[in-house]
Amino acid sequence: MRVVINGVTKRFGDHRVLDRVHLTVDGGQTVALIGPSGAGKSTLLRSINGLNRFDEGEIHVGSHTLLPNRSHHGCPVARQVRRLFGMIFQDFQLFPHLTALQNIMEAPRCVLNLSKDKARRRAMELLDRVGLTDRATAYPLQLSGGQKQRVAIARAMAMSPRGLLCDEITSALDPELKNEVLSVLEDLKRDGLTLILVTHEIGFARRAADRVVVLADGKIIEDGAPTQVLDHPQAPRTQQFLSQLLA
Ligand SMILES: Nc1ncnc2c1ncn2[C@@H]1O[C@H](COP(=O)(O)OP(=O)(O)O)[C@@H](O)[C@H]1O
Ligand SMILES: [Mg+2]
Repeated sequence: MRVVINGVTKRFGDHRVLDRVHLTVDGGQTVALIGPSGAGKSTLLRSINGLNRFDEGEIHVGSHTLLPNRSHHGCPVARQVRRLFGMIFQDFQLFPHLTALQNIMEAPRCVLNLSKDKARRRAMELLDRVGLTDRATAYPLQLSGGQKQRVAIARAMAMSPRGLLCDEITSALDPELKNEVLSVLEDLKRDGLTLILVTHEIGFARRAADRVVVLADGKIIEDGAPTQVLDHPQAPRTQQFLSQLLA
């Protein structure tokens, strides 16, 4: 599922959080979006998914177009876009009162009107895929961070999206738990999903991303193959950011 971001600007008061951003991500591509804190990375992902409005430009997701100055909350186009792109957050956002299985069954039951049996079967398949069959009846509190994030991925996948937007989904995890989440993403990439990942995992970006895009002060300052951007960054701001990250 192709995403085209065409001159998108987003302001909070006088502050241009996104400043005429142009970015095209082809279907099946994996893009690692990196950049300093406050660069606008989360705002960009949220804009793609119709979770926040923007002031100028257009965003095309497949055949759907998000336009500026619309509240996208509850808007039919944004709803369609959210069906195509699941979003996963750093803090999991699982329903605490539902088991892993119930968390995954919830949207297919409520949004797709799947029968309980069908939704359960699909949820069990997804739990198997993320290696958590034995944790189906556990509540979020009983799961490790890595397990919670894998449930969150399975929950997003339950809507059969064409892509995922992942916002620093391993940042809250202990180092030894990051890899179990990253390897699930690599597995999904092989399915041809379009993945746009905000990440600080440079090793992962190098290994799994087709492209690395650097956002700073609301602007894309670098965009290219991982080896090019990570080993031979052109913009001084990228060099500075990477040297801080790797320090
Ligand atoms: N709801 C909001 N109101 C005002 N400013 C905001 C809001 N959300 C984000 N910002 C500001 O927008 C800028 C970009 O934020 P964000 O997209 O979260 O950056 P990043 O994810 O790259 O760290 C920051 O300066 C942040 O303070
Ligand atoms: Mg952020």
